[in-house]
Formats: sequence, C-alpha cells, structure tokens
Amino acid sequence: MEDETLESRNQARLAILELTNMISVPMCLHAIVRLNVPDAIWQGGSNAPLSASQILTRVLPSGDPHNLQRILRLLTTYGVFAEHLLTDPSSDQVLRKYSLTDIGKTLVTDADGLSYGAYVLQHYQEELMTAWPLVHEAVVDSTTEPFVKANGEPAYSYYGKKPEMNDLMQRAMSGVSVPFMKAILNGYNGFDGVQRLVDVGGSAGDCLRMILQKHTNIKEGINFDLPEVVAKAPNIPGVTHVGGDMFKSVPDGDAIFMKWVLTTWTDEECKLIMKNCYNALPVGGKMIACEPVLPKESDNSLRTRALLEGDIFVMTIYRAKGKHRTEEEFRQLGLSAGFPHLRAFYIDHFYTVLEFQK
Ligand SMILES: C[S@@+](CC[C@H](N)C(=O)[O-])C[C@H]1O[C@@H](n2cnc3c(N)ncnc32)[C@H](O)[C@@H]1O
Repeated sequence: MEDETLESRNQARLAILELTNMISVPMCLHAIVRLNVPDAIWQGGSNAPLSASQILTRVLPSGDPHNLQRILRLLTTYGVFAEHLLTDPSSDQVLRKYSLTDIGKTLVTDADGLSYGAYVLQHYQEELMTAWPLVHEAVVDSTTEPFVKANGEPAYSYYGKKPEMNDLMQRAMSGVSVPFMKAILNGYNGFDGVQRLVDVGGSAGDCLRMILQKHTNIKEGINFDLPEVVAKAPNIPGVTHVGGDMFKSVPDGDAIFMKWVLTTWTDEECKLIMKNCYNALPVGGKMIACEPVLPKESDNSLRTRALLEGDIFVMTIYRAKGKHRTEEEFRQLGLSAGFPHLRAFYIDHFYTVLEFQK
C-alpha cells in the first residue's frame, strides 16, 4: 500500500488535481479575450495597473468585478498578467491591480488590427470544442478525426461553408504569422535572388506581403489557397491570389513558400503536396516550409510542451494522422517527394524554416 503521508504522494495528489482542472486556464484566457481585457489595460501603451472594477468600467460596466478578479488571479499564475497588491491603510483591505506581461501583450490589438486574440477565439469555437471529449476516438479509430465525428465533416470544408468561421480562421492565421514573419525575415536570407514566389496555403496573403516588402528582388507573388479563402483575401500590391487545390497542382514559381500546411496532413498527403511543389519548381529551386519541428526528447520545456500540445490539436481537429514531425521525418518526406537536400534553420522557437532544394 502507498504511504500517502510521503511528500512525493502529496505532490502527486496535487499534480493530478491541477492537471484535471487545467481546462480553467484556456477557458479563462478565452474569457479575457472575449471581454477585451488586454486592450482595456493596454490603452495605447499605458499598461497602468488596473483593478477588476476599473477594467470593467472600460469594457462592461454592468459586469461582476469579483469574478473577473478570480480569472485575473489564475492567469497571473500563468504569466499573462502581473499582479500589484496595494493595501488600503484605513481598512487594511488589499486591492489587487493587474497589468500586462509580455505574454499578455501578445493579446493586444495592434495598429493593423491583429493580435493572438483571434487565435484564442478560433480555437474555442463551439464546433472545435465538441471534438475535445473525443480525443480517445483518435486511438480507437484513426480513420476519422474527432472533429469529423463531432461535426460530420472535415474542419476546412466546414469553415468554408461558414463565413464567420472562415473569417476568424484568416484573422487567427494573420495574428500568429505576422510576428513570426518579422522574426524570420531578419534572420533568414533564402529569398535572395527569387523573382517569382508562390505561397502554398497562404491564407489572406500576409506572409507574401511581408516577404515582398523586404525582398524587392521578388517581382511576382502568387498567393495560392482554397477558392473560398482567396475570394476573401485583400488586394496586396505585387500579389496575385489564385484559388485551387494543392492536392491537384500548385502554380509554378522559382521558389515556393509554405507555412503551417504540412503539419495538418498525413505522410501520404504531405508527399502529394510536396511532389506537386517539386513539379512546380525548376532544378535548384527551393521549397521553403515553415513548420513546428519536434525535438527527439520529451522534456517539459515550454517549447516542447507548446509543440506537443499543437500536435494533439492537429490530431483532434484536422487530421487524426496529421502531425508535428521531427527534422528527420521531414527529411524522409522530402526525399520521397524527390528533394535531395534539406537545411533547417531554428530561428523562431515554434516554427523551423525547412529549406528543401530540388
Ligand atoms: C494553418 S493554415 C496556414 C495559413 C498560412 N500559411 C499561415 O501560416 O498563416 C493552412 C492553410 O492551408 C489552406 N488549405 C487547406 N487545404 C488546402 C488545399 N487543398 N489547397 C490549398 N490550400 C489549402 C487553408 O485554407 C489555410 O489557409
């Protein structure tokens, strides 16, 4: 019989309670984005600590400050807010105020109307949430993803029929991609000498817009995505939006960019997409893929956890056999599609730049 008085057992009981209730964390994150709390605190850059009541006067005067404070306290322990305790000398009461940390600031709407907030909202839409109690089904029967079991059809075709989901998906992609692109455009020079660049699965075209702004050698950008997605994409100077299906063919270019696409698909599907990219490139041309790349070890670092959590998201929502891969798995996929060379650039902590050369 286990000795429940041992410190290790005490810690274990605590840990399992924490793991079980962990759903409170993303749900509170969702709540503060829905309530516009980050923008209310930020107020054009002041980020002055505010109490829950003060926050509510800016976003929802009729709201319950005690319950908002409970949410803010929990998220403070995950580093989203900084808590400032002030004691009122007359009553000895403690007043809690909150400002944004660097993590919290990722949720603030920038001058272009973007933030990671749309990514949070996108993840917790009702249709996606109904898939989560079915994660075990991905083990029982991996031919159908939990999202399909819950909603009757694959996520992308489902979004395609619902304009508001399609729109939120595009805003979520833009909010995550723009800061990443700023980081890699300073550290990666693989676009030098390219004249016609195709972005496969380019969504609203944000990545191409930023690449073209930095690399004036690129004369033509082709943003290639599903017809219903490019139909909603904005005009971008130098960029032509082309609708189609990457499983059939992709437009020609002297280089191909592809961010956050391969992860969503099975090995066989990836080979097909990569083969179509190979066929669209000249000899020596590059397919530049930016994807999460898993480390070999399963450690508990923030990076490994973020990558493994994203892996389960893909399995649950997009493809039960779609996945995050190791660098070696990407090398093998590249070889099977015909690419003899792969170079990996670890510039960003989440996405790795994978340069496959024909
Ligand atoms: C995870 S998003 C990434 C978007 C963008 N590359 C980024 O990183 O912000 C995957 C993209 O692949 C597109 N996609 C899905 N199926 C496709 C297909 N069969 N042909 C072309 N694009 C497709 C989706 O519409 C979506 O824009």
